[in-house]
Amino acid sequence: MKTVTIITSFILAGILTAFFLGFSPVESTGKLEYDDEQEGLEEQLVIRFSHVAAENTPKGMAARDFAKRIQAKTDNEIKVEIYSNGELYQDQNEWAAVANGNVEMIAPATTKLSTRFPDWQVLDLPYAFQGYPAVQEAYEGKIGQTLLDDLRGTNVKGLGFWYNGFKQFTNNKQPIQSPSDMNKLHFRVMPGPVIEAQFQALNASTSELSFNKTYRNLEVGFVDGQENAISNIYSKKFYKQQSYMTLSNHAYLGYAVVINEEFFEGLSNTHQQSLTEAMKETTDWVRRHSIEINDAHIRKIKRSSDMEIDVLTTEEQKRWREAFKPVYLKAKQNISNELLQELERIQQTHSP
Ligand code: LMR
Repeated sequence: MKTVTIITSFILAGILTAFFLGFSPVESTGKLEYDDEQEGLEEQLVIRFSHVAAENTPKGMAARDFAKRIQAKTDNEIKVEIYSNGELYQDQNEWAAVANGNVEMIAPATTKLSTRFPDWQVLDLPYAFQGYPAVQEAYEGKIGQTLLDDLRGTNVKGLGFWYNGFKQFTNNKQPIQSPSDMNKLHFRVMPGPVIEAQFQALNASTSELSFNKTYRNLEVGFVDGQENAISNIYSKKFYKQQSYMTLSNHAYLGYAVVINEEFFEGLSNTHQQSLTEAMKETTDWVRRHSIEINDAHIRKIKRSSDMEIDVLTTEEQKRWREAFKPVYLKAKQNISNELLQELERIQQTHSP
């Protein structure tokens, strides 16, 4: 009898704890938490915004900027909860999370959409963009619009693109100055056909690992190196596990900002307009600030580590472009002609 009473008390205590503490946000039934700044609590809408980067990066800061703007514009009727560092979802499952409405917004690297939507591969082509204005012309022009339209019919709506910076190679084995220095090195990569082809063209091998597993895999030496924007190399401390970095600027890392379509369509016209305006303003903000954030981070890396940092001269970059030719040949099979022609136009306009 005593045993039955003890077991029953345990079960009851478990049920009550679950009831009072609530469930994880992933399992949330949409019930709103109390917020004393919100007068008409019933009307408050919550956007759960999940991303894998650190908070002090262009994406982390843009998410916070967006949250502030939309809350101000809607008088706190829309609130944004930000889940950074992959605390809710990792690279592999964030798309399903937003499509299913487990979160309302995500901002994955454009590469991470390129397996599902082949035209997105155009943004990964090595040396596709000569400088920041070229990237802006792609993101905010015809290429960007075509790619966002490509998401139609997926219950995920594309809102636009956010900026980070050009990617650089880091590794633990040797200085990288010419394409042949990559021979037989093993790199952590994001999943993406162009990225795969890029390393193949350099005779290097790859492992697709989620962003937040990269540090550990560099630490134990499972991979020799990785490629990323400076802000990620700094904020995730990759530089602490790497002896060499090459400022190659070989491709651009930016983000697709997307929202669950059903959620967006369910918003009033006024809320939709506020969201679109906030998105536009944050995009302008992150375009202007991403460069200085990356610059500040490389200064910090230089101050706090003895990693060797090499720079590719214009002459050396020519050799890399030559080595990347097979990547373009392969990509032509997957990317529409229209987008490749637009890229060529941008390249001609912004040639050095
Ligand atoms: C990576 O996976 O290397 C980056 O795309 C992470 C990010 O979102 O910046």
